[in-house]
Amino acid sequence: MKPELLDETRASWNFATKQHNAHKRDQAAFFRAGGTTLFPDELELLGDVRGKSLLHVCCNSGQDSVSLSALGANVTGVDFGDEAIAFARALAADCQSTATFVHSEATAFLETTAQRFDVVFFSYGVLGWFEDLPRVVRGFARVLAGGGRLVGLEIHPFIWSVGSNGEWKDPYFAPGRDFADPVTDYVGESKGALSPSGHVDAAPLTNPHVAHSWQHTVGDIVSAVAASGLVVEQVREYPYANGFRPSAWFVPRGKEGVDARRFIPPPPVSFPVMLGVTARAS
Ligand SMILES: C[S@@+](CC[C@H](N)C(=O)[O-])C[C@H]1O[C@@H](n2cnc3c(N)ncnc32)[C@H](O)[C@@H]1O
Repeated sequence: MKPELLDETRASWNFATKQHNAHKRDQAAFFRAGGTTLFPDELELLGDVRGKSLLHVCCNSGQDSVSLSALGANVTGVDFGDEAIAFARALAADCQSTATFVHSEATAFLETTAQRFDVVFFSYGVLGWFEDLPRVVRGFARVLAGGGRLVGLEIHPFIWSVGSNGEWKDPYFAPGRDFADPVTDYVGESKGALSPSGHVDAAPLTNPHVAHSWQHTVGDIVSAVAASGLVVEQVREYPYANGFRPSAWFVPRGKEGVDARRFIPPPPVSFPVMLGVTARAS
């Protein structure tokens, strides 16, 4: 990606991250009391992470990194967001987490680090930030130790084609198209589904910076993983999104428990809303 596009995207994330965290009540107290931000779906894909070295790619403010470290993983989070990494480091210190954080553009880190990891993990809005998908996936493969696993749980690329009233919006196949939109206040819009420590309502601020992202289809993603030399284990589609409400047209899947924090298209409409991929290094 051109450096000026990367800078704009980082500015958009810095603005949004501050807003997102302002919606969440005392996060360190939440983690100190044993709270987690992880959903059952990533836990199922990850399996037992105890004692494993785990790279959390695009870790944002570190909440999932801290949660994974509480499960016994040796977690390194990487993100290019100034706001995100400063928050993540302060959070880890405040709740005595051993998670550590690298402030770097992800591809640059993946292509240069000498570290190797048992698990490379990414979730909920990562692949679209990379214009050259095969390149970043080769980076994932590069940093995996022998027998290590790539685990990704993503927002399904199909949902970017659906408009805020359920109408058809953008083409699913859009190779090379730059979606230059500001990062939204999706934490505020989810009204608590992404704030397990407690939700603080606030009027949304308009993000003045656009972020550049690209559409990668399921075929692009699975092919990039296979071409990286990793052996694809699972490709899973889910009828719901965890925490993230793409628009008010989506409805909660249930009234209580984790389903109250999951969103589905209004029945009988049904299409894939999340995508899980796991692969193994030989
Ligand atoms: C939707 S968030 C991912 C959520 C994250 N999985 C979590 O645990 O909260 C996307 C993150 O990607 C980061 N990001 C976007 N492009 C990046 C890049 N090229 N290198 C590193 N981080 C990047 C943003 O700063 C943001 O924190």
